[in-house]
Amino acid sequence: MNRREFLKVSCSGLMTLFLSGCGLNMLGGDTSGTGFAAANNAAEKESGKMKIAVITGSPHKAGTSALLADKFIEGAEAKGHEVFRFNAAFKNIHACTGCNACEMDGPCIFKDDIERELMPQLLAADLIVLVTPLYYYDMSAQLKTVIDRMHGRLRRFDGKKSILMATAWNSSGWTFDALVDHYQSLVEFMHWQDMGMVLGYGCGTRRMIEATEFPEQAKRLGMSI
Ligand SMILES: Cc1cc2nc3c(=O)[nH]c(=O)nc-3n(C[C@H](O)[C@H](O)[C@H](O)COP(=O)(O)O)c2cc1C
Repeated sequence: MNRREFLKVSCSGLMTLFLSGCGLNMLGGDTSGTGFAAANNAAEKESGKMKIAVITGSPHKAGTSALLADKFIEGAEAKGHEVFRFNAAFKNIHACTGCNACEMDGPCIFKDDIERELMPQLLAADLIVLVTPLYYYDMSAQLKTVIDRMHGRLRRFDGKKSILMATAWNSSGWTFDALVDHYQSLVEFMHWQDMGMVLGYGCGTRRMIEATEFPEQAKRLGMSI
């Protein structure tokens, strides 16, 4: 499928979703889709508290990007937000095979941790936080696997807020260019609202990152949303 066809399918999926959403809302039976998201948004506006899904992509439990996630969560929880964390590298997850059984708006054929554990939290989240080590100038495969699986409920993520946090060994100015480009394309295509980024240049090890201000930046970002 080329990009034009992909967009066409996505848009027709949106129309189907919109029409079915109207029907479900009229019946008052939509508890997992757009109606639920709208109810969430209203609740968020009223209370100022958000549901946050943090997805980490590193296989290092106590690594550099995990520290950014820890600090962000510390800040967000201090402000009363509700955080769900999914450490993709330690979960049973499958890559999207493009079978399209989901028709971009339905259950996945894989009944794994993404489908059972993460997906309900992602659908309910107001804010999605992507956390990754830089792997060959992009996100790790573990995080990308989760993002590809959003294909299964594609337009149900519309309108969510998002954040990117990443760490890298390199400290050159261009280090995160490709990752940031990728993230910004995602934000546009997914109809997300970017709430900020923490890009940890020169953070190759735990000792290196602990000597920087990036963990504090992550905490401040968590407190600011
Ligand atoms: C497979 C692999 C690919 C990597 N690619 C890059 C890279 O392209 N640029 C870079 O600056 N660092 C690269 N690194 C270094 C990691 O991004 C860096 O050590 C990071 O702090 C690891 O984060 P973590 O502790 O959260 O796993 C790579 C490391 C690995 C294991």
